[in-house]
Amino acid sequence: MQTQDLVLGIDLGTSAVKVQVLDASGNTVARATREYPLVTPKPLWSEQDPAHWWAATCEALRAAAAPRAERIVCVGLTGQMHGLVLCDAEDSVLRPAILWNDQRTEAQCESIIHRVGRERVLQLTGNLVLPGFTAPKIEWVREHEPEIFKRVKSVLLPKDWLRLLLTGVRATDVADASGTSLFDVSARSWSGEMLAALDISEAWLPEVFESPSICAEISSAAAELTGLRAGTPVVAGAGDQAASAVGAGLVGEGAVSATLGTSGVVFAVSDNYKLDPLGRLHSFCHAVPNKWHSMGVVLAAGGSLSWFQATLCADLTSRAKENGSLPFDLMMAEAETTATGAEGLLFLPYLTGERTPHADPYARGAFVGLTSRHTRGHMIRAVVEGVSFALRDSLELMGALGLGGAEVRAAGGGARSPFWCALLADVFGLPVVAAERDAGSSVGVAFIAGVGAGVFADFAETARLQGTCQTHQPDPGRVAELDAGYARYRELYPALREGFLELGTSP
Ligand code: XUL
Repeated sequence: MQTQDLVLGIDLGTSAVKVQVLDASGNTVARATREYPLVTPKPLWSEQDPAHWWAATCEALRAAAAPRAERIVCVGLTGQMHGLVLCDAEDSVLRPAILWNDQRTEAQCESIIHRVGRERVLQLTGNLVLPGFTAPKIEWVREHEPEIFKRVKSVLLPKDWLRLLLTGVRATDVADASGTSLFDVSARSWSGEMLAALDISEAWLPEVFESPSICAEISSAAAELTGLRAGTPVVAGAGDQAASAVGAGLVGEGAVSATLGTSGVVFAVSDNYKLDPLGRLHSFCHAVPNKWHSMGVVLAAGGSLSWFQATLCADLTSRAKENGSLPFDLMMAEAETTATGAEGLLFLPYLTGERTPHADPYARGAFVGLTSRHTRGHMIRAVVEGVSFALRDSLELMGALGLGGAEVRAAGGGARSPFWCALLADVFGLPVVAAERDAGSSVGVAFIAGVGAGVFADFAETARLQGTCQTHQPDPGRVAELDAGYARYRELYPALREGFLELGTSP
């Protein structure tokens, strides 16, 4: 290892690509972010044009990586999981990418589960087939776009398509492959039985590697477009959640995190493969070799607050612009002036359907218990509490599997709010630890690249590079109040489920 060595992480997110260059002490040397649009051509659909990913990535790399390309010794790729990119024999993209939060494939999920058998799918892949996952998307294209399907010669996850353009190599990693419904999570390899059952050729799929394995190098063509050095090694990388966990130091058994991003994720690391017998939690391979993780996903966590801000907080948005603050911070301040429990107002955060614990694309959001006393501050608090209750649902399921630890690490943009972290501690009844620097997936995957290249000795070393943390202790009085609120929250979905289905399926 040379002290001047740098590592590069590229995170192909849902709204933007983030590029992060770290030095051998784990400090950020340079970073750049470039945004791209997401399109919803029909209700439940969510798509992106991979050409936008590529243009944004080249720009971000030229800005942050090119000026120091000679010192970059390894590159890691991470990004949104589960998405489907279909290419033909010439590696041209056949249609827009169908994303992780697309909900169009309920019928295909049911049909796969019916064909393979619910128990068998769980045994083979460690997970149920969910609308966000990749295999039902392939089935959807086969059924609805047969002309496109005929030309398919390769199936790639979003960040792996980027790798193809950067290196010419088709490869993926065990963590990202776990979310395809085609992967044997326990054996850490493609599931021959699932591929056969779905009539998907293994030749269409990329080779699978453990996350820190070097599997490709930057091509001369990509070097010219990005300013990277041709021949720079590229590790397999990881899906965004596993990478973000590495960034937050969750590398050993018992570590648990709650990530407050657009989606909310509860993530628990284990030394062994653990299966939720009802498939409500995801069982995925971790980016740390020989480790697995269990995961629950709340589809609209920060997404619920963004919706609330866009719909009901125009004044806060313009005030934030005027005084250089963030609308999110003003919203948190408004919520903080109201009492724990929002005077009996509850919020269900299922604005884009839900994954954990109710895998239901028709689930909807709801405010329940509004009175004329309630203010916007109460409503914001109810949203934050509702999202926190939804995260607790996952934590409870993990507890039943014997997973969980003495504290929860808060991560993601929402964890910047001390108010939300303290509330999470009260909702979970556990200390919540928030790092001062929110590392995120781009830092996590740069750590993975650094382990692959030997810049860092191992993941224990990267976990020590966390920086200062603040611990929020639960308050017994508020814990009791929020326990009561959580019990009421738990009754809402079963009571409203039939109505949601009717709303979503009637013409
Ligand atoms: C994880 C998941 C999201 C996406 C987008 O299962 O669906 O985290 O990866 O970030």
